[in-house]
Amino acid sequence: HDEGPACERGPVPAGDPLTGLLDRVRADLRDLDDGEPASYIPELGRADPTLFGLSLCTLDGQVYGSGDTAVPFTAQSVSKPFVFALALADQGVEDVLARVGAEPSGEAFNSIRLEPGTGRPPNPMVNAGAIVTSSLVAGTTPDERFARILDGLGAFAGRPLAVDEAVYASERATGDRNRALAYLMHNAGSLTGDVEEQLAVYFRQCSVLVTCDDLAVMHATLAGGGVNPVTGERVVAPRHAQHVLAVMATCGMYDASGQWMLRVGMPAKSGVSGAIGVALPGQFGIGVFSPPLEEKGNSVRGIAACHLLSDQFGLHLM
Ligand code: DON
Repeated sequence: HDEGPACERGPVPAGDPLTGLLDRVRADLRDLDDGEPASYIPELGRADPTLFGLSLCTLDGQVYGSGDTAVPFTAQSVSKPFVFALALADQGVEDVLARVGAEPSGEAFNSIRLEPGTGRPPNPMVNAGAIVTSSLVAGTTPDERFARILDGLGAFAGRPLAVDEAVYASERATGDRNRALAYLMHNAGSLTGDVEEQLAVYFRQCSVLVTCDDLAVMHATLAGGGVNPVTGERVVAPRHAQHVLAVMATCGMYDASGQWMLRVGMPAKSGVSGAIGVALPGQFGIGVFSPPLEEKGNSVRGIAACHLLSDQFGLHLM
């Protein structure tokens, strides 16, 4: 990890026009109260459904925000692109792609379908693929591997991160579907090592606490080719950041990925805590947080906020 020069940046002045635009997007969605927080992980069901934060980090390292931008929540699936990036950095592209595909599954995040013959999961954004990529991060023990994941996520965010132990325990106690997936993959040879230990690393990764501001910085790091724009640290190689953005673009929103690319037109990843992270390559990163979800497990207000931002500011890549 080279240390580059940290960017010169001061606090965002009051009345700043970009902050005003983020405030307006949130105000426009004030009355949108569909959906419920995820409850299949019991601890997530306790989330305050009124929380709503929206942050944006530019590639010069300036963070703009509106609403609940400093409230911590668990990253859940928003961790997956970053752990995929760490696996690419540690094992190289060919070795990672030998173990996990790069094709959209057209199915839900917890789909049981694996590639016939190889037992390979379809991509690193669905649970099956993410369980494999977290097992590919460097480390000789599960503790070492998780330490590398926590440090790596922290390098993307530009600050040290911690785990929500209550959410971790809740998911570990109730994660039978992920457990079943992991055992199927172990049987097929696509997941190696001790299954329960691999799962514990994956569950802990999902329980890492981040804020909206963190998500904006993490996605700006991907948008900037792997250099954190706030700390100046190179976290992953440009090629690896590019691979991650490509897989987010095609698979990041699960079976809603096609609709998302059509409507919003930017690589993104959602998590069942109500988080959505978006990266506009060469431009900025966005973090949105609002716990109530639609039926596919994506934040209702998060989706609506991204639609508004994309439409109003012409952000669609195509
Ligand atoms: O493995 C799970 O089910 C959760 N830890 C993460 C799933 C998730 O965030 C799916 N995203 N929409």
